[in-house]
Amino acid sequence: MALTLGLLMVRWFNRRAGVNDEQKRPEGRDLTDLLAHNVRWAEGKRENDPDYFKRLSALQRPEYLWIGCSDSRVPANVITGLEPGEVFVHRNVANLVHRGDINLLSVLEFAVETLEVRHIIVCGHYGCGGVQSAMDGHRHGIIDHWLQPVRDVAESAKDHLEEIADPEDRMNRLCELSIEAQVESLRRTPIIKSAWQRGKEIYIHGWVYGLEDGLLRDLQCDAAP
Ligand code: CO
Repeated sequence: MALTLGLLMVRWFNRRAGVNDEQKRPEGRDLTDLLAHNVRWAEGKRENDPDYFKRLSALQRPEYLWIGCSDSRVPANVITGLEPGEVFVHRNVANLVHRGDINLLSVLEFAVETLEVRHIIVCGHYGCGGVQSAMDGHRHGIIDHWLQPVRDVAESAKDHLEEIADPEDRMNRLCELSIEAQVESLRRTPIIKSAWQRGKEIYIHGWVYGLEDGLLRDLQCDAAP
């Protein structure tokens, strides 16, 4: 009953917003489907655990901060099996840690000082379009400036990368090296240094995700207090 009422409400809101069934894309889903799915999801959660949302809305205490690529195929919660409330997430193109990025630094400080996360995971992925764009020699626009750290990593590992004959393998190795460099950048931030000096147990990890097999690999480049 509640589910039907929820769906009717979604339809009513959509009609007001000018979305109707005729506007559906033939090959895909539209906003009505997303909102209808949301109603079913929320109902399901409440059925299993009536206090689920009450509890979550009162407190978030995630143990992990995830710094990942914006790529839609690498969603932190889905691939790690974590529920809402269990991972604090920051994503940008090519999962980069720019030292002057006020957005990332605000997320990092809040995660470290207020949420008191224990693990920070920098997760990149093979076949990263950001990493490829950084290296293809074409002009893309403002993103070229954003991706400069990737070219810096490629430059300092030039000899090593040139030894890899297969272009795809070479690019994937650069994805790994870039992740390791971001772990290093995080380690050097005043936020992390000061947290470690005060005895906070925070561990930084570098992971890479395979789009082709859905698996995460630990790059074994941890930074610890
Ligand atoms: Co990517």
